[in-house]
Amino acid sequence: MQKREQWKSQLGFLLAAVGSAIGLGNIWRFSYMAYSNGGGAFLIPYITALLTVGIPLLILEFGVGHERIGSAPLAYAKIHKGWEWLGWWAVVFVMFGIELYYTVIIGWCVNYFLLSFDLGWGTDPKAFFFGDFLSLSDGPSKIGQIRTPIFFATIFVWFLNWLIVYRGIQKGVELANKIFMPLLFVLTAILVFWSLTLKGAGEGIKAYLTPDFSKLSSPKVWIDAYSQIFFTLSLGFGIMIAYASYLPAKSDISKNAVLTSVLNCGYSLFAGFAVFSVLGYMAITEGKPVAEVVDKSIGLAFVAYPKALSLMPGGSLFGAIFFLCLVVAGISSSISIIEAFVSAYVDKFNANRRKVATVISVLGALGSIIFTTQGGLFWLDIVDHFLTNYGLIVVGIFESILVGWLFKADILREHINRYSSIRIGRWWNGLIRLFVPIALGVLLIGALYREVQSPYEGYSWGAIILLGVDWILFTVIIAVVFALRPWKTGHRQAGGRSGD
Ligand code: PHE
Repeated sequence: MQKREQWKSQLGFLLAAVGSAIGLGNIWRFSYMAYSNGGGAFLIPYITALLTVGIPLLILEFGVGHERIGSAPLAYAKIHKGWEWLGWWAVVFVMFGIELYYTVIIGWCVNYFLLSFDLGWGTDPKAFFFGDFLSLSDGPSKIGQIRTPIFFATIFVWFLNWLIVYRGIQKGVELANKIFMPLLFVLTAILVFWSLTLKGAGEGIKAYLTPDFSKLSSPKVWIDAYSQIFFTLSLGFGIMIAYASYLPAKSDISKNAVLTSVLNCGYSLFAGFAVFSVLGYMAITEGKPVAEVVDKSIGLAFVAYPKALSLMPGGSLFGAIFFLCLVVAGISSSISIIEAFVSAYVDKFNANRRKVATVISVLGALGSIIFTTQGGLFWLDIVDHFLTNYGLIVVGIFESILVGWLFKADILREHINRYSSIRIGRWWNGLIRLFVPIALGVLLIGALYREVQSPYEGYSWGAIILLGVDWILFTVIIAVVFALRPWKTGHRQAGGRSGD
């Protein structure tokens, strides 16, 4: 059996965890969500969600990976052999779902980084994005052709991912994050301070943060806060479990969980200033209210932002830095998905990690191709909706039940407290055993309820079942197959660090 690799330093681990947490979502999802859900007042549900679900679950995932010394399938199998499938499911639906289109979006960002230099999206960025760039077809059933620029950029992204994961923990993931994270912080700071000098920046920030407490009575605001916290901390992906399994015995779990959360959420809040200052500038320049120029996620990055960049002095440099930030934030997240799968596979089948990394990167790149076609955006939209709304939440519910009740929250808590500087009290047991599964259960039921009311975004039920529902079922089947294969290592028989 191969010896388990370890991080060179606690800082290396922290940066890798932060690298996974900070992704596209922090830049293009958080700020719009805050803006549309009560501005500054949104911080109340957001921080509540962070304290009641985010940090407790992050402590759980770090703790389980560290105490059981294993990736998600191994860690869960060591708790109860009937639950190995859950670990596989997490790493499989993320690797064979989210990762496949996440890398394509990073590929779009690579293209837009290059386009920035001469503001290549022209005078109508919306027509450019959907027409010239994506050549979007009429619907998910019309796949059309592969878009060459997107395809090549995606292959490039996969190559970088492969290179980093292939080199292993210390020389790959840790080194990459030690370069990427400081780079990302510096570039983001440049964007923020630059954007604050633009006229209209104040208007934009007012729109972003002026609190509207009346919104807090709407359940949607709370649901958004909880799902954002879940996604942004990379919970339910099996990633944080794998990363923590490479920590040495004496590690400060709770401090790392708090630091990861604070850096991640602080980054989101900070990056929002750059997003909204630029939108404020565009509003003033075009003589419109901010409400008319804002957009979310893909529309924000690839339509609204390019429009503003074309108006701005120095817009091409600003744009290049902005898209580079997205690429860096994206890659530090996408490598974490591959690592979660690779470590799971190596833990069970005793395979050579370099071979696994290579095979999985090639398969991943092939799987991404469908999302580089003219119908790719529709596929992405549907698959993403199902995997992120259901997959992550279901894993979260099960893992809190598994660890809280079957493993016993107390055992894990004592393990964590042995070396951690921030002691976790009994409140944590209550959150993990009761509050988290109930809160996530409510989220899940709410989402299912909305789902059956009307088909998501007006797609046909056929497309939704074929792409969304089947995609989930397909990953469950693969997970069960992996779980049923015999162990080629003796890891599962070995206990955890608590000595049981
Ligand atoms: N935390 C990431 C984000 O906010 C989500 C993510 C993690 C996506 C890992 C992919 C891989 O974007």
